[in-house]
Amino acid sequence: MSKVTVVGAGNVGATCANVLALNEVANEVVLLDVKEGVAEGKAMDIMQTAQLIGFDTVVTGTTNDYAQTANSDVVVITSGIPRKPGMTREELIGVNAGIVKSVAGNILKYSPNAIIVVISNPMDTMTYLSLKSLGLPKNRIIGMGGALDSSRFKYFLSQKLGANANEVEGIVIGGHGDTTMIPLARLATYKGIPVSEFLSKEEIDEVVKSTMVGGATLTGLLGTSAWMAPGAAGSFVVEAILRDQKKIVTSCVLLEGEYGQNDIAIGVPVVLGKNGVEKIIELKLNAEEKALFEKSAEAVRSTNAALYEIKAL
Ligand code: 2OP
Repeated sequence: MSKVTVVGAGNVGATCANVLALNEVANEVVLLDVKEGVAEGKAMDIMQTAQLIGFDTVVTGTTNDYAQTANSDVVVITSGIPRKPGMTREELIGVNAGIVKSVAGNILKYSPNAIIVVISNPMDTMTYLSLKSLGLPKNRIIGMGGALDSSRFKYFLSQKLGANANEVEGIVIGGHGDTTMIPLARLATYKGIPVSEFLSKEEIDEVVKSTMVGGATLTGLLGTSAWMAPGAAGSFVVEAILRDQKKIVTSCVLLEGEYGQNDIAIGVPVVLGKNGVEKIIELKLNAEEKALFEKSAEAVRSTNAALYEIKAL
């Protein structure tokens, strides 16, 4: 029996619970929210699709009763406010730091062995905050950003290539921010062939740019943060863990010397399996990529520093 809790029944949390159910990733999914009735309502709505779609996962909702989340294998934290058009993810820190810290503490009381997947923004900093405030082994706290950003990168590549997105491979490392993410175009392939064989430098640069502002573009169109791909990416990470898939997924994890970095959580390729982060893959970055990674780490570090200013740490 496997159990997943999704904290936050907003757009991202509810979509994540829905995709977990559609793909029968877990036997049981608990959706929790502070707003009276919202988690119960969204869970019931999802369950009323079970007969139509034919899944067996049981989704329940609760208004802030953490006892119902007890013994979860994986907990996904989506709580907090989303961005509005024109806002950066970093601007959410003041409100979201307090929320994420208290949610993570409550979760651990009932699921002391859970692996925690952080989606709340600014995601790299919220992951760092969870690592620092919970004191869990680093394999058990994973920030979800790279799975989403890489998926957007593959989407934009496939559009430019006129290809099926499933034929395209590519990863995005670095921070989950409009200016901090690093789509690694050099390593991207179309059916195993470097994309540079098909696309000009200008075309690749356009794809990189679209990927970096992928979330912001959607926030502009929708009036709030995106949720379909973020929710599905959360489920994708949970699935790799629960099914022990040993998938390579770019994830925000604590670095201790890897990539020349310490005391920071930032996106790098890792192997995900039943123990959470099972291995950090250290890529041989070229000089340009290394410089971008260092700049990205610096920006994430300065957002992390705000945690001390607002006394969240
Ligand atoms: C995004 O990039 C919500 O941060 C998320 O859409």
